[in-house]
Amino acid sequence: MDFNYKTIVITGGAGFIGSNLAMYLQEHYPSARIIIFDKFRTGEKFESGNFTSLGHFKNLIGFKGEIITGDINFKEDLKKIAQIDFDILYHHAAISDTTVMDQKLVMQTNYQAFLDILEIVLQKNAKMVYASSAGTYGNTKAPNIVGVGENPENVYGFSKLMMDMSVRSLLKNNPELPIVGLRFFNVYGEREFYKGKTASMILQLGLQALKEKKVRLFEFGEQRRDFVYIKDVILANILAASAKKGGIYNVGSGIARSYNDIVAYLKEVLGDFDVEYIPNPYKFFQTHTQADITEFYQDLGYQPKFDLKTGILSYIAEIKEIAKGL
Ligand SMILES: NC(=O)c1ccc[n+]([C@@H]2O[C@H](COP(=O)([O-])OP(=O)(O)OC[C@H]3O[C@@H](n4cnc5c(N)ncnc54)[C@H](O)[C@@H]3O)[C@@H](O)[C@H]2O)c1
Repeated sequence: MDFNYKTIVITGGAGFIGSNLAMYLQEHYPSARIIIFDKFRTGEKFESGNFTSLGHFKNLIGFKGEIITGDINFKEDLKKIAQIDFDILYHHAAISDTTVMDQKLVMQTNYQAFLDILEIVLQKNAKMVYASSAGTYGNTKAPNIVGVGENPENVYGFSKLMMDMSVRSLLKNNPELPIVGLRFFNVYGEREFYKGKTASMILQLGLQALKEKKVRLFEFGEQRRDFVYIKDVILANILAASAKKGGIYNVGSGIARSYNDIVAYLKEVLGDFDVEYIPNPYKFFQTHTQADITEFYQDLGYQPKFDLKTGILSYIAEIKEIAKGL
């Protein structure tokens, strides 16, 4: 799709994925009007010590579009979106921290506010691409297929599944509605630093290796996840805008890799370091995820360009830069 001369709203545009999307669109479609809607970080923290919202202005240095500072939970703020004559809305704003236990807050922010935004999109006959998650699968058997084994283990995964369920029921009678859900697996890459402790293990292990010459893994590092590089996630976002019908798609690399694999690739680029295995404190932890990406390929031609090794190679320069500043 040619985004030039289109008006694009990105909720959560100050966060990891949203800011990468905004920068990609700005670079490749200079005549697009790009509007970011984000709460940014307030300084408020959860009990865990993590910020309640993770957006950061530094992700947007160089952004030349418009910014609306607002909260998706406030109807007054959503009116500012409703006033825009947009063509496509990317919805990435959410509590992305999967360890948050406040069910009311997660359901309100991730699900109810989504329904409010969906209503605005439908009124405008606009397109919508929204962020769902591999968390919808919980610990059911991999490879994960949309529509199969959707059994979330935490309220975050449940909130994302409810988004998908609402869209599914909408599409049942109106399959041509251009509403596309993307179930991201474990995304890593540039501009994730401000996610702090919720950033990918690729960044966290890379920084530990560089700063401490030692990394810590949950016993015994053989849990397998589908790690997907940000550039493939942006590709997925771009392809989804061309959808001629609604749908829900997995966005992964299509391959499950272990935490020990990450360590092995980091050692190749950073040299040797120690590995300490520690007990896993989380009652809930996905032990094997792997995106079945067949349908996304068949419908919209999604083919990831990076595997874990080439993704780490592409990302390592930024990890080194971050480590220098710590
Ligand atoms: N990164 C991943 O691995 C991953 C995996 C699966 C799904 N997702 C989903 O993709 C989306 C983007 O994830 P991310 O990694 O960029 O997360 P992120 O936390 O970096 O970005 C989310 C953005 O939403 C903003 N936000 C939070 N609450 C808000 C509110 N009430 N009003 C307005 N803005 C608010 C934050 O300030 C932040 O900028 C999220 O919906 C997340 O759940 C991400």
